[in-house]
Amino acid sequence: MSNYVQAMKDFVESHYIATFAFVAAGAGLLAIRRWMAGRACLSKVMLDGKTVLITGANTGIGKETALDMAKRGARVILACRDMTRAHIAADMIRQQSGNGNVLVKKLDLACLQSVRELAKDIEKNEPRLDILINNAGIMMCPKWATEDGFEMQFGVNHLGHFLLTNCLLDLLKKSAPSRIVIVSSLAHERGKIHFDDINLDKDYRPEISYRQSKLANVLFGKELATRLQGSGVTVYSLHPGVIRTELGRHLFPTLAVWKRTIAIPLMMLIKTPWEGAQTTIYCAVEESLANDSGFYYSDCARKTPAPQAQDDDAAKRLWDLSASMVGLG
Ligand SMILES: NC(=O)c1ccc[n+]([C@@H]2O[C@H](COP(=O)([O-])OP(=O)(O)OC[C@H]3O[C@@H](n4cnc5c(N)ncnc54)[C@H](OP(=O)(O)O)[C@@H]3O)[C@@H](O)[C@H]2O)c1
Ligand SMILES: *[C@@H]1O[C@H](CO)[C@@H](O)[C@H](O)[C@H]1NC(C)=O
Repeated sequence: MSNYVQAMKDFVESHYIATFAFVAAGAGLLAIRRWMAGRACLSKVMLDGKTVLITGANTGIGKETALDMAKRGARVILACRDMTRAHIAADMIRQQSGNGNVLVKKLDLACLQSVRELAKDIEKNEPRLDILINNAGIMMCPKWATEDGFEMQFGVNHLGHFLLTNCLLDLLKKSAPSRIVIVSSLAHERGKIHFDDINLDKDYRPEISYRQSKLANVLFGKELATRLQGSGVTVYSLHPGVIRTELGRHLFPTLAVWKRTIAIPLMMLIKTPWEGAQTTIYCAVEESLANDSGFYYSDCARKTPAPQAQDDDAAKRLWDLSASMVGLG
């Protein structure tokens, strides 16, 4: 043993610059990792007797959010399109939380019929809904269309959630104080709503479409909050951070090999799904936010969104366009 220690000492003394560089690099990486991890939601609020519905809860940050809500004692509804994966997630959540009150319901946000059916099922079978979390999302897929012919990212990330939320409003109002949490993204900052070509038929680019859909999330939250003033239903939109999830599933295979090679070790530095779920959880339960509505959050704190996300006229115009697209009167 002492031989080993002596050998180490000899090595450090003869290679002290290399040793110093190695230790400094390690400390630097640890610092970056801690910085990327962000803040955690510190609220200890319990949710016994409350019902939470989360879209896209079979994987990624939706699953972590669902687990947290289950640990707080809520009745948790996982609204997912893939029932096999959803049941596996529900089993894991029941096991890890010790809460058996975890349900799976079918929801394909790329199909308005499916959205209406889920909403009808909830209205009919659930006496209350306290927290609705619009989490599901698809990023940078090729030019795909939803069942109803809408561009996929706008259709799933915004329109499906727009219809779902509107269909559940009566139940949320009945359960007030209640909350609607909308998972957007930092990507909204470079977004623009293409009112004259909302499905991007003229020039489809995956990143332009994703940014548009995430800007739509923030504008929807803003307009919804205005419409819900005085109802006891509050609205929050947020950026969850950059997180190791399956979200890159359509982007990753299109990257050059060298980019993928660089990306893999960098993935170790970004947020874990648990860390990525913290701002969603914060918006869903934090007591001090009870009377705030229509704001945007990042890293468990309020943040000013991009100027185009603060545009009241655009928010109204997007509402009217969305309502006509999904057939809401
Ligand atoms: N990861 C990040 O770095 C990051 C950054 C900023 C914002 N966000 C946002 O965070 C949210 C969650 O993303 P994530 O990172 O957890 O991604 P993820 O691991 O890919 O999870 C996305 C979830 O959405 C579901 N989904 C996709 N299309 C759907 C549809 N048509 N109907 C119903 N559910 C559908 C997926 O279901 P399947 O498993 O069946 O596909 C999955 O459950 C998204 O809104 C995303 O935009 C993520
Ligand atoms: C929210 O408003 C209600 C009614 O005005 C008040 O009783 C409560 O203390 C407020 N809560 C917070 C966290 O500001």
